Amino acid sequence: MKVTKAVLPVAGLGTRFLPASKAIPKEMVTVVDKPVIQYVVEEALAAGINEIVLVTHSSKRAIEDHFDVNYELEAELERRGKHELLEVLRETVPPGLKVSVVRQGQALGLGHAINCARPVIGDNPFAVLLPDVLVEQAGTRTDLSVMAEHFLETGHAQIMVEPVPEESVSQYGVVDLEGVEIGPGEGSPMRRVVEKPPRDEAPSNLAIVGRYVLPARIFQLLDTTEPGAGGEIQLTDAIATLMNEAGVDAFRIRGRSYDCGSKLGYLEATVAYGVKHPKLGSDFRELLKQYQ
Ligand code: G1P
Repeated sequence: MKVTKAVLPVAGLGTRFLPASKAIPKEMVTVVDKPVIQYVVEEALAAGINEIVLVTHSSKRAIEDHFDVNYELEAELERRGKHELLEVLRETVPPGLKVSVVRQGQALGLGHAINCARPVIGDNPFAVLLPDVLVEQAGTRTDLSVMAEHFLETGHAQIMVEPVPEESVSQYGVVDLEGVEIGPGEGSPMRRVVEKPPRDEAPSNLAIVGRYVLPARIFQLLDTTEPGAGGEIQLTDAIATLMNEAGVDAFRIRGRSYDCGSKLGYLEATVAYGVKHPKLGSDFRELLKQYQ
């Protein structure tokens, strides 16, 4: 079945990003000229997904507003004849994009957050995009669309992985491919997956980086998943059960990811996206020379 739906868990409080995230959601922090969440939604759209389910929290209303029509602002720009700006504003909600919202009342973990989207996803396969992570696209097709295609062909869930420095493995879900080496853009069946292993117990340095394509079966598995690392219901643990039942593939990112939930990752993303920006890029590169 084609993947046309995606779940974006945005209920997290963003404590790593304080004080910026005190009164605005961390997903609304701007990278160059767009909030982080806008890049993530555009990535989903580019993979053929047109239905986004935000799993959210009462403090995060600005995200829903961002993907809604701002009628007053549009009318005012129209009245002033600001057509270019009107276009920019309208592009935030591309035609055909459906956004729905479910609440995660209690912060019980990523697995729990994903399970909250079940009434909207139903029996359909779906993608999960963690909104802190920006995935740099290499080539004309996005990695997520390649993963969705692999899912369609094999029926195997697809989990994006990326090599990380060994000292960082304990911050991630880490996969074991039993010694099989995969290059960028390649996949291989996962043999084991562990959430946030201590460095000396990590099966590899291939970390899950926040993009998944999953079958609806994962919801049933989440129902019976006990709290794991950090006392939270972990998506990784349900994926481990799915792996034993039906097979799950790791897919190695072709480009790289940026963790915008950390301050340094955010700064790096700002520079990386800034220098590539179609309008600002060349001036920004010039400006950066002053800081070397
Ligand atoms: C989550 C997942 C973890 C994954 C990480 C990627 O952890 O549980 O498996 O590696 O996202 O960013 P979190 O960062 O929410 O603790």
